[in-house]
Parts: sequence; C-alpha cells; structure tokens
Amino acid sequence: MKYTIACFMAFLVAGEVLAQNKSEVALTAKINNILRKMTLEEKIQMLHGNALFSSAGVPRFGIPELTCDDGPLGVREEIKRFDWASANWTTDSATFLPNGSAIAATWNPAMAHKYGVVIGEEANARQKNIMLAPAFNICRMPLCGRTYEYYSEDPYLNSQLAIQSVKGIQSQHVAACIKHFAANNQELNRDSVNTIVDERALREIYFPAFKAAVQQGNAYTVMSAYNKLNGYWCSENDFLLNKVLKNEWGFKGAVMSDWSGVHHTVAAANNGLDIEMGSSGPYDQWYFAKPLLAAVKSGQVSVKTIDDKVRRILWLIYHTSMSSNHSTGSIATPAHAKAAYDIASESIVLLKNDAHLLPLKVNNIRSIAVIGDNAVRRFALGGYGAGVKAQHEITALEGIKSRFGKTASVTFAQGYKANYLANNTDAQNAGYDQPDQMLIDQAVALAKTTDIAILCIGSNREFESEGHDRKNLKLPFGEQELVNAVSAANPNTIIVIMAGAPYDLNQIKKSNHTIVWSWFNGSEAGNALADVLKGIVNPSGRLPFTFPVSLGDSPATALNTYPGNNMTADYKEGILVGYRWYDTKNIDPLYCFGYGLSYTNFTYSDLVTNKKVYKRGDKITVSLKVKNTGAVAGKEVVQFYISKLNSTVLRPGKELKAFKKIMIAPGQTAPVLINIAINDLAYFNDKLKNWMIEPGQYKILAAASSRDIRQTATFNIK
Ligand code: BGC
Repeated sequence: MKYTIACFMAFLVAGEVLAQNKSEVALTAKINNILRKMTLEEKIQMLHGNALFSSAGVPRFGIPELTCDDGPLGVREEIKRFDWASANWTTDSATFLPNGSAIAATWNPAMAHKYGVVIGEEANARQKNIMLAPAFNICRMPLCGRTYEYYSEDPYLNSQLAIQSVKGIQSQHVAACIKHFAANNQELNRDSVNTIVDERALREIYFPAFKAAVQQGNAYTVMSAYNKLNGYWCSENDFLLNKVLKNEWGFKGAVMSDWSGVHHTVAAANNGLDIEMGSSGPYDQWYFAKPLLAAVKSGQVSVKTIDDKVRRILWLIYHTSMSSNHSTGSIATPAHAKAAYDIASESIVLLKNDAHLLPLKVNNIRSIAVIGDNAVRRFALGGYGAGVKAQHEITALEGIKSRFGKTASVTFAQGYKANYLANNTDAQNAGYDQPDQMLIDQAVALAKTTDIAILCIGSNREFESEGHDRKNLKLPFGEQELVNAVSAANPNTIIVIMAGAPYDLNQIKKSNHTIVWSWFNGSEAGNALADVLKGIVNPSGRLPFTFPVSLGDSPATALNTYPGNNMTADYKEGILVGYRWYDTKNIDPLYCFGYGLSYTNFTYSDLVTNKKVYKRGDKITVSLKVKNTGAVAGKEVVQFYISKLNSTVLRPGKELKAFKKIMIAPGQTAPVLINIAINDLAYFNDKLKNWMIEPGQYKILAAASSRDIRQTATFNIK
C-alpha cells in the first residue's frame, strides 16, 4: 500500500514538473516572439528606470511597467514618481514586519515564509511586481548600520531563512529581489569601498544564502551591491554576475543595480547587469539609456546581450504581474497583524532570568513602572533605511498596559532622551550618549513606588541606520546610568533591550538578574513582548549572531580591516566570521551565537547517527531525543554543528549544518530526526577551485547554542 501511494505521489510530482516544463517552453516561445518584434529602442527602455521605482514595459504588446518597492520591513509608503517625498496616499498603510535579525532569531524557516507571504500579499495590493527584499548580507561586523535588516553571521541559518522568505513572497506571484550581492557588509564607504574577499570565504560564507535563494527559492531578481568586490564594482562584476550567478547557479531572472550603483555602460552591460535603477533623472541620460543605445550601435555591446536582458525581464514579468494566478492582494489585514505577532513572539530572546522573576506572577503584582524612551517609541520609520507607514504599531507600554493593566497600575517615565538623528552631523549629534539626570531622577522616583520596573532601552531606527555604521558597541543615550539607577531603586527590575545588532551588555549581564532582548519587532511588537513577560508565550528566540565581550575581539577589528585602508577592506579573517572566529581563536563571547533561554528546561539524550562510516553522496541521518523537564510547554532550537577532527586544512572549530525548532509539552520527550548531506561537509579549495570532502573523522554536536554542546557522536568519511 505504502509503495502504491509512493508511486502515485511520484507520478503526480512528475506530472507537475512536466506541465511546468511545458509551460516554460511555451513561455520561452512567447517571449522570443515578442522580442523579434521589438525595436532596439524599446528593448533599451526596459533596461533602466523611468522613475524612482519603475522601468518601462512595452505598451504596444501589452507589457506593463515593472514596478518595485522596498522592503524589507514591509511595503514602503507610496512616494512620488520622481522624488522621495510622500505621495500622500491614504490607502498605503501597511503591516510593519519584524526586522531581519528578528526573523533570524526565530530560527524558524516557517516564520520567514510567513513573513514572505505577507510581503507578497501587500505588494499585490499596492501593485508592486518586485519587492526589494529580503536582505541577507552576512553580519560580518557588529557595527554595520544595516545589521538589523540582515539575518545572521552564519551562512546556513541565513540560507534556510532566505529560501523561505523568497518562496513566501513569490508564492503571491511577486518577485523577491535578494540583496545586496555581494560582500556588502559595512555601510561606511559602502559606495566606494573595495572589499577583498578570498574565493573560499565567498563560497563558504558570503554566497550560500544567495545560491540557496536562487537555486532552492527560485528568486526572480537579484540586486547588485554598491561596493566593489575584488577590484570590480558589483554591478559590473563578471565573476559575480555572469560566471557564478548566471552560469554556475543557473539564475534565470534579472539583476538590478542598487539605486545609483552603476558606474559604466559597457562594463555593466557585458558583465551581467540587466536593469539600472537609481534615484534621480534625467532617466534617458543614465548608463543603460542613451549611452547603452550608442554602445550597441558602435558594437561594444551586442544585440544578443541586450536580448538576453530583455528576455530575463519579460520572463519575470510573466511570472509576476502577467501571471494568470496573480491576485489582487490585501494590505494591513488582521491576518497579517497575526503573522507579525507570531514572528515577533518567536524572536524574543531571554538572555538572563536568574531570579526567576519571569514570567511575571500577575497575582502578586499591583504596580508596574515602565521606563525608557523605547517603551513608547515606534520603529517603523527612522533613519535612512526604507520604512513602513505602519497601519498600527503597538509599543511596549501599550502592550504591557493591555496585558497587565486590568490587575496592576501601569505608569510610565521617559528615563532618557534619544537625541540622535541619522542625518545629523557628528557635531549635531554630540552629547547623544550623555544621561539626562532629571529624567533618571523621575524614573527612580517612580521605580521606588512600584512592585516591578520594566526598563525599555536599546537603540532605534535613527541610531541603527542605512548609510552609516555605529562607532562603538556602547549602549547610547546614557542608558547604562539609567539602568544602574533604576536597578538600585527597584530590586525587581527587568531590562528589555530593543535593537537590531549586538551591543555591549557587559555591565548589565554582570549586575542585572533579568534581561530580555527584543528587536524592531513590527506592528505587534508590544503585544508579543508583553505576552513573553506574562508567560503567555514561552520565549524561544536564539541569537543569530555573536555578542563579543569587546569590539576588539571581533575579527574585522582585531585584524584592523574595518573600515579598511585607502577604501580597501581586506577580509583577512577569511572564513572565520562570527562564531567560527571566536571558536577557532578560543575567545569567549559575551553571548554566543545560538544562545537563548526558555521558561522551561530541555535535556538531550541518545544522539545516534545511522552509520559510522559514510562516503561522498551519502546522507547522515541523525536522531536525538529532547525532553522538556520543566513545568511548561516550550520550543527548543536544537542545533547540529559539525567539527572536522585533525583537519589538514584550516577548518572552523564547528559549523552549523542543521537545526530544528520543536514544541515539547512538559514532561514529554520528542524525537528529533534530521539529515545532513555528506557533500555539505565539503570545504572550498581555493587553489583547486573546487569543493573537497576531507576523509577522516568528524564529530557531530547536538547543542542548545554554539557554546552549549549537549551530546556528541563521531563518524568517518571514507
Ligand atoms: C538600498 C537598497 C534599497 C534602495 C532603494 C538603496 O540605498 O541600499 O537596499 O532597496 O536604496 O530604496
């Protein structure tokens, strides 16, 4: 019977693939037919922006304009066609989705998919064909201003989330635009820096999520990065765009430039860029407008090259706005708010709960002081980065009032002033890190009178912003002084930090007993946070990047490669990015990759691999048992790392190769079964330009974080 069902399923899948192939063949014929009738001028029109967020279609064949919008936090408000000012629409309020590092902290690809579906549905409602999302450059350097938009320091976690975000968006027949390809890991000098990255690091660290999003997610568009990679602008980088992306990975869609990220006509056209986008006209003077027409006429760019670009664009239009399955979409619906809530509530990381203050015992609490600017701040907008005109955004104070206000008095004190704007000069921002004693005194006076103090600190979208990096890891706005004063005044102080990137939490970790990490967590942030504090949600977020003890410990700073010399950032750490660096160099982090607590405890047992010896092409089936030994249900993120023992080449101490998030009822034991392909244990040999599987002994680690190894087993590769 099982066999019959399997045969029937295989028959259905094969039928579907056949039908898909057939329709792709028909589509190719249709596209070729249109292409034959197009003039060169019409083709060139399609290859560059005709407004801030669109490029021309071919009206006489009924091909519509290609319209795009930012991402990643949600569908951006409508701006004017030719400038960045608001179009003052009343129908463009959208769902504000949790930021990239929040999604990554869920360690749950299903959440990335949920995110994508919302983005896709809302893009359809706004008639956008391409969403400029997701963004998943590797978090190489903790100060990078866009860390909050990106996912992780780990290529595997990055890949699993990227695939699902793309699939989610594209399930709505909207193109995802994965960005920024590649090695765009700092904002300082981003449009002039030349990043020098060896091929092994590119292949093992910086490329995997892009490759996975293309090959497994079938991403329709890719955005080239602003920076140079190994001497060539990413928008005209033959290795990156032609050799790797299009030829090796088989990318069928279109590469668009980052806004005003093109530098030459002929080099960009011949080296793989398909669409030039930018910030201001005159549009017919752009590299891919009149100059490209001239370059074709003078023979520097072939018609074949132009046709390939147009073919790619038509292909993506037929898969999006002209797809027969294209829906009208929906925006800012209760279902979308619920998705934002689900993601936010899985992203919150419990960093410390030594006094078992959390979850708050409602019956004993008569009064709560909520303190800090971040308790009332909305994060949908701010700084240079794309934001969202959020239909609603529940602040921490609103969430806490709604969850605790019936049984306790909830009062607020500002605590600190967030005196920092991304577009101010350093001189204008001077003093932003100073405490405001009057606000501290008011907060202390309030905290003295309440049973509990919830201190909401961290950063905001002005302080973490596209276009600039932070200068150090210090908490801004004199927050440490506020923490010290409030914690001294109220022994039941809970520190809640809202930010998108690592900060220096040394003192807080040492002196405070209760620390919760939240993010720029979207429309439902306050509700999700309050539900975690109340125990309605058992926290299950895990850090997607390392928090170093000091900036000097982190690779780019230790090797003096940030921001680079003479506009060159040499990634000397190679593959040793994130925990790979800290592990290999034996440096203790403040909080390690993968870390996060729960209101329950889990024990691991019976780690077994299905065999002891494997060969190339095999897969390891790993089983493990995880028991919830506490009194409440909870989700555990089981992490599987692999170490190569006695390697003859440099290998990181360990590398994440699989993970699974599972809900386990109290007292229950859950079986965990995962597969790891032996081929995925290869390293890239820079000299031979090939992936190599080292024979010999390996260790598999089942872990609750990158530094909390619970079970190990060994196996061999022949
Ligand atoms: C950013 C992109 C963004 C584009 C359009 C650029 O500055 O780097 O991520 O999609 O602007 O807003």
